[in-house]
Amino acid sequence: MTSASSAPCEFSNAPDWVRHADLRQWVASVARRTQPERVVWCDGSQEEYDRLCNDLVDVGTFIRLNERLRPSSFLARSNPSDVARMEDRTFICSERKEGAGPTNNWIEPQEMRATLERLFEGCMRGRTLYVVPFSMGPIGSHIAQIGIEITDSAYVVVNMRIMTRMGRAVAEWLGDDGDFIPCVHSVGAPLPPGAKDVAWPCNEREKWIVHFPETREIWSFGSGYGGNALLGKKCLALRIASVMARDQGWLAEHMLVLGVESPQGEKTYVTAAFPSACGKTNFAMLIPPSSFKGWKVTTIGEDIAWIKPGQDGRFYAINPEAGFFGVAPGTSEATNPNAMKSLAANVIFTNVAMTPEGDVWWEEMTREAPAKLIDWQGREWAPGCGRPAAHPNARFTVAAAQCPSIDPKWEDPGGVPISAFIFGGRRSSTIPLVVESAGWEDGVYLGATLGSETTAAITGKVGVVRSDPMAMLAFCGYHMGDYFAHWLRIGKTVKHAPRIFRVNWFRKDANGKFLWPGFSENMRVLSWIVERCHGRAQAHSSPLGLMPRFEDLTWTGLENFGSQKYAELSCVDASGWTEELSSHETLFRRIGPQLPGELERLRARMVSSLTA
Ligand code: GTP
Ligand code: SPV
Ligand code: MN
Repeated sequence: MTSASSAPCEFSNAPDWVRHADLRQWVASVARRTQPERVVWCDGSQEEYDRLCNDLVDVGTFIRLNERLRPSSFLARSNPSDVARMEDRTFICSERKEGAGPTNNWIEPQEMRATLERLFEGCMRGRTLYVVPFSMGPIGSHIAQIGIEITDSAYVVVNMRIMTRMGRAVAEWLGDDGDFIPCVHSVGAPLPPGAKDVAWPCNEREKWIVHFPETREIWSFGSGYGGNALLGKKCLALRIASVMARDQGWLAEHMLVLGVESPQGEKTYVTAAFPSACGKTNFAMLIPPSSFKGWKVTTIGEDIAWIKPGQDGRFYAINPEAGFFGVAPGTSEATNPNAMKSLAANVIFTNVAMTPEGDVWWEEMTREAPAKLIDWQGREWAPGCGRPAAHPNARFTVAAAQCPSIDPKWEDPGGVPISAFIFGGRRSSTIPLVVESAGWEDGVYLGATLGSETTAAITGKVGVVRSDPMAMLAFCGYHMGDYFAHWLRIGKTVKHAPRIFRVNWFRKDANGKFLWPGFSENMRVLSWIVERCHGRAQAHSSPLGLMPRFEDLTWTGLENFGSQKYAELSCVDASGWTEELSSHETLFRRIGPQLPGELERLRARMVSSLTA
């Protein structure tokens, strides 16, 4: 089996490259509780990856795609009850309820531990327990954090190998007494002796994604999908890391990181926080319109940023991940050619449709849908049949190194210096194309009051506007009021705090059509932001903050857009803003006494400036 030894549950079969006694002991104790058929320590090698992929093909979890059209790539179809993150099943079990705050689900830790005892007792029977050592951040970097995920899903193992630095090198770096974050995952579907496995094992009755912030532990049960199961991502790199960041004076954020290079070679790095399925991947891989001759955008990350104050008084950001777990539908040569090129080979696709030739397809991948497909649930599909071919939250897993726009510094352990923080949501009305805050506190207000329409990335109703502070509603592992206070505080600790902006690509006209062309045209906004950072572009005050006038943006190549449409895109309508400010008030009330007074004062000031 996988380079490491595998013994019929004696639990003491750690390979010699695992020198950490506590780690061996912890694995043994989890194995005793979960009763797997065998324990396998993953070394992260290509051979191991290939072997596990073959196993997944044999059990029917993976379909091998056409080797000529999509080399070394696979398609997985999930159980229809397991297609996205489940926020209502996600818990922050801090010692006190106050610690989790009003925006997180909380269960008293002792009670939760009792539930976990029940859930994990024998839950891996008939399955393999894989031990996955992983690093969030480059191995050896002072910024990186080590996690060990125990999982009974080979699908999770192969995804983790793409999404993180994984395997033997991590265990070796951990040494015999390094710190690691224990992460336990089970699909919650023990196999009775002799029973045949299903293609996507999960627990249809109950799913739990549980965090203990004080002891820095993660327990996940019942789901095999994305952020519910790849525990390095949302659970470790955001929920647990946000707590560590608060305690240690840094930031763990739901942000992409990109670089903008001018024709003169000047490099400016910015981050952007957009909620799930609101365009981070697209923006991170943007290709400027041809009229921006000599300008280039490079990608450092497209989902998570860890940001630390540097010696020179600037913030430095790293991408803790090694791969992309990106939304497939909507991705095309027209909207994101860099993503399409990244997907040429070595990809795991989940819940997309399959063509008769054995390639993949999803909505909007091509202008016309193929005449015949197998949909994400394995059923025959034809255009006009009334069902989507791919699930709206279908995803691809691919190594970041395959992205043509990847920045040469994307693995620099020191990170890249950040000049601007951008916040954005999916808002069909009210929110203008771009606003710059007057300063740090106003910027924190902009981010804190971010709202967005819900998407298919989470289970539940799609298209409802909700407050999603800093795109972290589902990812902040502690009290949101303290999180705002942390943001307010940390801006004062650096000499060169980034400028803060808010954008909205999604405003619609009276006929429900997007007003803004978006995608590569977002470069017009990005270049204005960059020029603002260097003190070279104009902005004008408005009740919302600083905004560009039509003539302050570059329109070469988009001459027919026109100032009238721009006015519609950037107008501040009184009734919309009355409603918007009342939603800020609702959020602030919900946060309660822990809301920093500055934010309430800024809200009052906005109310008076908008009614003036
Ligand atoms: P997570 O991975 O869920 O955190 O999300 P993400 O922010 O990386 O989402 P992604 O970039 O994959 O968002 C995809 C969705 O946003 C698709 O429906 C895209 O069509 C849409 N999108 C991205 N950029 C734009 C844009 O500029 N304009 C419009 N109208 N839609 C966009
Ligand atoms: C998100 O939902 O924000 C994602 C996808 O990035 S998942 O990893 O499934 O959480
Ligand atoms: Mn995300």
